[in-house]
Amino acid sequence: MSYATMEVRPIGGAIGAEIYGIDLRQLENEAIWSDLRRALLEFHVLAIRGQQLAPDDQMAVGRVFGEPCFYPFAKGMETHPHMTRIVKEPEDRVNFGADWHTDSHYLPEPPRATLLYAIETPARGGDTLYTSTCAAYDALSEGMKQLLAGVLGVNSASLKHKRGGDRVAHHARIGHMTVQNSERATQYESKHPVVRTIPETGRKALYVSALHTVRFDGMTEEESRPLIEMLDAHCIEPQFGCRVRWEPGQLTVWDNRCTLHNAVNDYHGYRREMRRLTVGPERPV
Ligand code: SIN
Repeated sequence: MSYATMEVRPIGGAIGAEIYGIDLRQLENEAIWSDLRRALLEFHVLAIRGQQLAPDDQMAVGRVFGEPCFYPFAKGMETHPHMTRIVKEPEDRVNFGADWHTDSHYLPEPPRATLLYAIETPARGGDTLYTSTCAAYDALSEGMKQLLAGVLGVNSASLKHKRGGDRVAHHARIGHMTVQNSERATQYESKHPVVRTIPETGRKALYVSALHTVRFDGMTEEESRPLIEMLDAHCIEPQFGCRVRWEPGQLTVWDNRCTLHNAVNDYHGYRREMRRLTVGPERPV
């Protein structure tokens, strides 16, 4: 595919592109938005360099991809309640998002896309890893594809399988984030197809993670766990993934329907601050 309004530099073989040469504040330029929407469908993750986005600008960019969503487990910014500050201070040891997951998997209508804008980044480390669950689905055997057809995953916000403890324990350890609803996490649970279809392209994607998927509908947790773990391990094989390096003024947008991501926690002693917005509530089909 070609993109007239911007320079697109692919990152991995299956996923990710760096975008150069556009100013996202040019809201009147419909050709840019059309290219960005097409690029997101092609690459799933776009690292758009060299931006200067105030919170209002980020909200405006977000609306190009869908209506804003609320994130249940961190307080929104006072002025922009849909937007959350993701902060790790030099003295913190635990970060936000350091397990493979898709955002808000446990909501009835999870967000189509996430927009993460870098305010301050560590001198080294603090990258985010991404994997294409379309590429992971394509690589499954026909037998496994048939086995998974029609299966529903039960996805919970409890974080019961998180190393170091569940949502309550995690929130207690996360230093400078304004977390909320810790005790109510088990109430956030939704069933979604383990294989979902991206409506615009018709591509199928695995929609499962060891962090959020607690069992398959109609099966026990004990019966489900081995296959959930196998699918999670399959999704994060390196040939399906890419690594995004951050710099201040970078907006990374990902298609949350067909990716997993993992915020690497390798920058103790440095500060990292991001502004996060999720958009486009969509019932997976
Ligand atoms: C997230 O999991 O949404 C945050 C990812 C990051 O901070 O890199």
